[in-house]
Amino acid sequence: MVLTVIYLVAAITLIVGLRMASNPVTANTGNQIAGIGMAVAIIGTVFLYKGADGNSLENKAWIFGALTIGTILGLLAGKKVKMTSMPELVSFFNGMGGGSAALISLMEFNQLLKGVDLKEMFQLQDPEMIASPAEALVTGSAGSDSGSLLVIFMGLILGALTFSGSLVACLKLMGKFKDIAFRGQHLFNLALLAGCLGLAAYIIGNWQTPNIDITTLFYVCFGMALLYGVFFVLPIGGADMPVVISLLMSLSGIAAASGGFLYDNKFILTGGVLVGAAGIWLTILMCKAMNRSLTNVLVGSFGAGISQSVEAGDKGTHKEISLSDTAVVMNYAKKVLIVPGYGLAVAQAQHICHELEKLLESRGVEVKYAIHPVAGRMPGHMNVLLAESDVSYDKLLEMEQANEEFPTTDVVLVLGANDVVNPAAKTDPGSPIYGMPVLEVEQAKSVIVNKRSMKPGYAGIENALFYQPKTSMLFGDAKKVLQDLSAEIKAL
Ligand code: TAP
Repeated sequence: MVLTVIYLVAAITLIVGLRMASNPVTANTGNQIAGIGMAVAIIGTVFLYKGADGNSLENKAWIFGALTIGTILGLLAGKKVKMTSMPELVSFFNGMGGGSAALISLMEFNQLLKGVDLKEMFQLQDPEMIASPAEALVTGSAGSDSGSLLVIFMGLILGALTFSGSLVACLKLMGKFKDIAFRGQHLFNLALLAGCLGLAAYIIGNWQTPNIDITTLFYVCFGMALLYGVFFVLPIGGADMPVVISLLMSLSGIAAASGGFLYDNKFILTGGVLVGAAGIWLTILMCKAMNRSLTNVLVGSFGAGISQSVEAGDKGTHKEISLSDTAVVMNYAKKVLIVPGYGLAVAQAQHICHELEKLLESRGVEVKYAIHPVAGRMPGHMNVLLAESDVSYDKLLEMEQANEEFPTTDVVLVLGANDVVNPAAKTDPGSPIYGMPVLEVEQAKSVIVNKRSMKPGYAGIENALFYQPKTSMLFGDAKKVLQDLSAEIKAL
């Protein structure tokens, strides 16, 4: 009874935590609340859980040993990992979640088989006793065994493919793995998945049939799910990786929920369902923000064989602007909109950016930030980055608001952003980002773009904005440029 109440309270903390995570002001507290709920549920389980035989959990030393190692590794990872490497960490954690769900399924399958062995033993001893004692030992009727098997396979297949797929995604983001695609890959993947599901169905239908090596078939099914995870992620392009990671996160949640079914544990079930639902919702939102369908992300080769908006030769020329001229233009502007992008995160220039904002405001300039939903490399990347340096939330404009404000803006300062301000998304049907809503910075009176070179951004395509007459390029590392720019403005 006490444990049930603990699970209920812990489940509520997960829901409250997730709700609070949707707002940058409350996200930290929400995370802590959910973490406390999780810790209470784990400790409650270790000390208060009693199995069907009425016994408490054994092996507490092992449990606490594993918990300690996990906690230390989690703390180190959380503290050490850079903001720009967060997708890799999330992907790794998803993989671990999936792996755990698959291990639970492996263990429970073996338990179920033990039950069958026991049944056979009883049959040999006394054929008349077949039904009752053996079935009392094996958890219930044959019907509920099939139900358990279904849930076991759900955890096994989803968990295994999430494990291998997330690890491949993590390695790809770390640059250790390249996109690998071969002819007929999608058909091969479909066949692998169909084979894996078919085998699972066969095992569920025949698991008590004598002379079939069910254990071997089960491990073949496990292996196929692992392989499917690898081949599913291998061909997907780098820019689509965050979408895939979010999808895998959702699958890891559903795999974990199967553990909740198996153990009749409402807390695991709630946690799994929340992760599953949040992951799917995030996947949909990201696809929407990039104007891509999920199918296109999963089977389309992003950036392959595309016509680029600015081909070599018709680029025109770009013009550069000096630091001192930039300082003058910004100092005497009435309204400035800053567009942060991935380069700002790489340069870790958020603090000096906030300094520049305060400096300009002290000179009477109105300064706001235009935030694109997929700027950077993870959802909410720019919000998190700017929150780190205490930029006030009411200064952050969402894309639609920003697009309304650009026509009345004197200067747009683009800091390490590229794809999210690429007009090809609106004008070039051949562009891989065509249809993705973008920040219409060219509507402002003038645009200054800070980046280190003319190299493309994540999508790997040229950006016509850089060659437009009202655009000036301010080359250099974002942090260094902003430091020097602030010094120039102070000297005015
Ligand atoms: P990008 O298009 O990737 O452009 C970033 C630019 O920053 C690069 O062109 C780079 O140019 C510049 N840069 C790099 N380091 C810099 C530094 N130290 N100082 C100054 N500039 C630097 O970034 P974006 O505009 O933020 O767009 C995000 C991309 O990621 C989009 O294609 C989006 O679809 C994709 N994506 C994002 C997400 C999420 S959830 N955020 C999910 C999936 C995909 P130089 O090398 O010339 O400096």
